[in-house]
Amino acid sequence: MTDTPACPHSSTTPEPAPELFTWEFAADPYPAYAWLREHRPVHRTALPSGVEAWLVTRYGDAKQALADARLSKNPAHHAESPHAKGKTGIPGERKAELMTHLLNIDPPDHTRLRRLVSKAFTPRRVAEFAPRVQELTDRLIDGFIEEGKADLIHDFAFPLPIYAICDLLGVPREDQDDFRDWAGMMIRHGGGPRGGVARSVKKMRGYLAELIHRKRENPGDDLISGLIRASDHGEHLTENEAAAMAFILLFAGFETTVNLIGNGTYALLRHPEQRATLQASLDAGDSALLTTGIEELLRFDGPVEMATWRYATEPLTLGGEEIAAGDPVLVVLAAADRDPDRFTDPDTLDLARRDNQHLGYGHGIHYCLGAPLARLEGRTALATLLRRLPDLRLAEEPADLRWRGGLIMRGLRTLPVAFEPGNRSEKSDTLSTL
Ligand code: HEM
Repeated sequence: MTDTPACPHSSTTPEPAPELFTWEFAADPYPAYAWLREHRPVHRTALPSGVEAWLVTRYGDAKQALADARLSKNPAHHAESPHAKGKTGIPGERKAELMTHLLNIDPPDHTRLRRLVSKAFTPRRVAEFAPRVQELTDRLIDGFIEEGKADLIHDFAFPLPIYAICDLLGVPREDQDDFRDWAGMMIRHGGGPRGGVARSVKKMRGYLAELIHRKRENPGDDLISGLIRASDHGEHLTENEAAAMAFILLFAGFETTVNLIGNGTYALLRHPEQRATLQASLDAGDSALLTTGIEELLRFDGPVEMATWRYATEPLTLGGEEIAAGDPVLVVLAAADRDPDRFTDPDTLDLARRDNQHLGYGHGIHYCLGAPLARLEGRTALATLLRRLPDLRLAEEPADLRWRGGLIMRGLRTLPVAFEPGNRSEKSDTLSTL
């Protein structure tokens, strides 16, 4: 945004429009979003890729857009840009076999696939997984607790979700470090056309195809076997659909959870009084504040800054703006979740906030399928960190921290912390406080 024409939504000429997509914006996009919400709530802009898209920043418009069937997830509806065609922000998805995933399709295909996967990925399966998440969490903390310092992204937030999702899917333990490497390559380089990313996606695709084949012959009690078994009116997932599903679960569930743990811990460290109250309530065996707190951390500085791409299938009006058929629309969840018309004191972190219908997990038919798993991982990670590293503190000035510059996800590159070295053997009593 460079020019500043008079704003159609206000009787006064606004101050100059803020610049979007700079490093400063990545570090703190909230003032720019406040400006957009007020002056250009539905705003057409050029993205760093050169593609033009509409940004939707008010809560009411955002919720409406997320539930509007005229906004399709199918990239074939994108008017003309070869840059954005087929991109939802998921690395490697342009590989045709991995494209048939939930975030790229509309009903009725979406309804069928979502129903099938929901049969395998049940809240019960997630609940049964709680002891394993606790064990992984403790093992990772054991890895650095004697050092007195760590990079919480590299040493903790990054490996926890990748090992968790591998376990859930049924990737054997001996192969999980390969997954960690492939995922690391993708998170570091995003969806760009770099050779390393393409190679990683190819390896992962090949590995998943082989694993699905093996599970078909020899099923277990894991999610991939459940996906293969799941049937709807006699219909099953094809091997390609099962591979695409495993891939989207990995990618929708991986970087998001890294950022929930990273952004969430960072927010707690920047709000010592809130963190102390949470710590005290956990020490007293009360998990109510943890429950509302996780939702507040998602609202306050959530992992998904913008929902994935949507495309108008016909001309429509949103927030007073005319959107043409084929135009891409990006719903800015991070802006909607700080809308003062919906949230009291939206820029204040209040772990006890009750009226908190945030959009951090989306809304409508694409509402996050993995929310129960994300909540389990977020709760376990934060509660265990606070209990085992009670004096956890930032080891770098906030101004020196670097944020990843991607469009869809919001998260830190590193989170250096320090603490009194602790004891490896001191394990958590599984979820007793949760
Ligand atoms: C804190 C962590 C997470 C956050 C903030 C989050 C957020 C979201 C959001 C905003 C959407 C909707 C995107 C859109 O409408 O454009 C979504 C969809 C989805 N999420 Fe999550 N997610 C998280 C963790 C997970 C996990 C752990 C999994 C699975 C292992 C997962 C699987 C999915 C899937 C499969 C979809 C697509 C659902 C559909 O299209 O029907 N997510 N998530």
